[in-house]
Amino acid sequence: MKEVSRQARAENRLIGLVPTMGALHDGHASLVARAKKECSPLIASIFVNPKQFGPNEDFAKYPRTFENDTEKLKQLGVDAVFAPEAAEIYPKDFSTYVYVEGLSERLEGRSRPGHFRGVSTVVMKLLQIVQPHRAYFGRKDAQQARLVAQMARDLNLDSEIVVCPIVREPDGLALSSRNVYLNPEERKAATVLYRALEDAKRELATGVRDALHLQAVLRRKLESERLAAVDYAEIVDAASFEPLVRVGRACYMLLAVFIGKTRLIDNLFIEPESSNSDELVFHL
Ligand code: PAJ
Repeated sequence: MKEVSRQARAENRLIGLVPTMGALHDGHASLVARAKKECSPLIASIFVNPKQFGPNEDFAKYPRTFENDTEKLKQLGVDAVFAPEAAEIYPKDFSTYVYVEGLSERLEGRSRPGHFRGVSTVVMKLLQIVQPHRAYFGRKDAQQARLVAQMARDLNLDSEIVVCPIVREPDGLALSSRNVYLNPEERKAATVLYRALEDAKRELATGVRDALHLQAVLRRKLESERLAAVDYAEIVDAASFEPLVRVGRACYMLLAVFIGKTRLIDNLFIEPESSNSDELVFHL
């Protein structure tokens, strides 16, 4: 992999990387499509990273569809697939980790201790191995994308972190490899995340800016769904991921909700239309 990358650099080409854990869906495909427009060669990685799963999480049963994935990536025009074995990434005496302070402890980090340490470490390694000019991440995992961008800046990495919009099913459910865990009844209930964000967006459109009020709107909808159990529903600054009192600058409404045993996340990204305007733009 290092050789592909060295040669492309020597030829002044823009190397792209799309890191994934496989079980590919149209969300992943959207990252590949964007990257394909901008980069050549384009490399995708498939690695179910054991270090980002907690002891009681779904590492063992995480969907693995390697043959399908590589076929899909080929059809999407990916030039090379990097799919290392766990022992290649974490040899026996592996002992160096990357940890992004602050961001790693909030929200997803609080609910999933150790998760972001695993993410930052593996992404750092993938960036070191592939040495891409650009690496593509989905806004579906907004905190992860922010954490990776922070790491890239703090550690002077040469890769630009590109963040792409959320891809949804026609009924609003954000695509996720974990959606396959949902039974038909849960699959219906799972749209409650989108419906709650839509409710909040509607309130925002009428001029409501108070975070507590908007949070109550989110919770009301989520709690109306019998199969849903809220982990968090928060409104945070888009850079620090610290709670906000008022929506005004760039921010996220972030949801983590159990539907049955399956934990789903989703978000609404809100930003000012321009630096000198009070108008907000919503990305749902
Ligand atoms: P994975 O869950 O496979 O996701 C790979 C990339 O696809 C991530 O950047 C994620 O945000 C993006 N993605 C997932 N669902 C999406 C959707 N509905 N719309 C747009 N983008 C979507 O995230 C990981 O893997 C891992 O943590 C990884 C970064 C590969 C490190 O192990």
